[in-house]
Amino acid sequence: MSANIAEVERRRAAAKLGGGQKRIDAQHAKGRLTARERLEVLLDEDSFEEIDMYVEHNCVDFGMAEQHIPGDGVVTGSGTINGRLVYVFSQDFTVFGGSLSERHAEKICKVMDAAMKVGAPVIGLNDSGGARIQEGVASLGGYAEVFQRNVLASGVIPQLSLIMGPCAGGAVYSPSMTDFIFMVEDSSYMFVTGPEVVKTVTNEVVTQEELGGASTHTVKSGVADLACENDIVALLRARDFMDFLPASNREDVPERPTSDPWDRFEESLDTIIPASANQPYDMHEVIRKTVDEGEFFEIQPRHAANIICGFGRIEGRSVGIVANQPMVLAGVLDIDSSKKAARFVRFCDAFNIPILTFVDVPGFLPGTDQEHNGIIKHGAKLLFAYAEATVPKITVITRKAYGGAYDVMASKHLRGDLNYAWPTAEIAVMGAKGAVEIIFRQDRDNPEKIAEKTKEYEDRFANPFVAASKGFIDEVIMPHSTRRRIALGLRKLRGKELANPWKKHDNIPL
Ligand code: HXC
Repeated sequence: MSANIAEVERRRAAAKLGGGQKRIDAQHAKGRLTARERLEVLLDEDSFEEIDMYVEHNCVDFGMAEQHIPGDGVVTGSGTINGRLVYVFSQDFTVFGGSLSERHAEKICKVMDAAMKVGAPVIGLNDSGGARIQEGVASLGGYAEVFQRNVLASGVIPQLSLIMGPCAGGAVYSPSMTDFIFMVEDSSYMFVTGPEVVKTVTNEVVTQEELGGASTHTVKSGVADLACENDIVALLRARDFMDFLPASNREDVPERPTSDPWDRFEESLDTIIPASANQPYDMHEVIRKTVDEGEFFEIQPRHAANIICGFGRIEGRSVGIVANQPMVLAGVLDIDSSKKAARFVRFCDAFNIPILTFVDVPGFLPGTDQEHNGIIKHGAKLLFAYAEATVPKITVITRKAYGGAYDVMASKHLRGDLNYAWPTAEIAVMGAKGAVEIIFRQDRDNPEKIAEKTKEYEDRFANPFVAASKGFIDEVIMPHSTRRRIALGLRKLRGKELANPWKKHDNIPL
């Protein structure tokens, strides 16, 4: 018996050593943790239960028959985060560069299938050179098996990807189909093909960082949602993040006790809107002063910052928040902000997370750049997302709600449940100056008349009452009572039942 136990211990120790001490040291020298160390930070202490520790690859080509490492480059299993079950896989870069073999893929698929069966999130810690080159089509097949599961799990269980090393090929396509991607600054990269292939094919000389570093993807491309300073910060942020999400689309949002009074008045909001309509203010302040304890987890803070998306809590329960940001491009809707918010709204709707929308939007961004790149179709994504969403939707117009953007931003007409406006709201087809320049074009050389008509337009529309008189706004609320009104609204909407007509699926303008 003791010999058997010793054998298990020997095998476990061999598996834990992965690609060997030299490669572990190299990983540490790059400021990165190993696959198992990462799981220790991510999961509650002693909660990780590993499976498939002894799985090995089945490749015999290119000298692989002589190289067998138990676990085959990925550590898989389940554990808890703040007591809640999650399934995990963590790729081990010390074993064939974390590359994905047929067996490595089977291990990932096994945890995904288990997570789907019980309704628990999957978190992938990605550190992989993509398909295992020695295996050829077997590894491509393995990736496709993972992709298929990513798609079937989408909207059923939350899927979070952490990119923690150089990820190429399939190692980026699988994360791209998960719900959120966190990256590590200066140490993680995502690209379909690396700099060497880029140079061969296009003659471009580019570094890994420029091609697919955290700043590229969290600022420019919008592929990733969050850039974190190092492995530990990324893993701890992931823990905080999971606290906002339900375990599956069959579960209610998680609840967390809060000492923040639900009816807390926030007098400073009464004066946050500047005297001039062209002066910005920080919408983050409105959000922080509304949610529990000022805690807001922002998604894509540096990409399309003219719209803010993220999670907060009201009375301890998660809400998804979308808000125009007057500090960036005056909060205008453009291609990137529409895509960013549309995806976020759809995530919330899929997982029964109520959506709170703060509106201060001057309209859609005009110009050839936007038109030629398809603002019509991309803007429609956000419109479509809000219109199809059946979760509780509460909207607060703080200042401008102009033109099509008024309609788009969770208006009453898109089945907004509670549409509030602050007294400073201006709801119109466009700003007074632009409106008068069009409808009184013939008086363009008569500045007095233009000024008079501009004033008339402002008096008529630069307020919430025309919309309120039509029932498009349910109530004009005092800014200081925003949190209280939202809390009351969400309480009343807990029992909301609304279903869209039966369909196989919709055809969102992609
Ligand atoms: C097998 C691989 C590997 C791979 C890396 N390794 N990638 N082994 N298959 N895909 C091995 C290396 O041989 C090396 O082994 C170890 O991992 C570390 O790799 P290095 O190159 O030394 O590390 P680094 O300099 O940090 O560069 C990392 C890298 C680079 C950028 C990921 O290795 C790279 O470009 N790899 C190939 C990427 C790629 O083209 N993948 C295929 C994508 S196609 P030793 O023994 O020396 O430690 C794909 C298809 C999917 O994924 C379909 C998608 C739709």
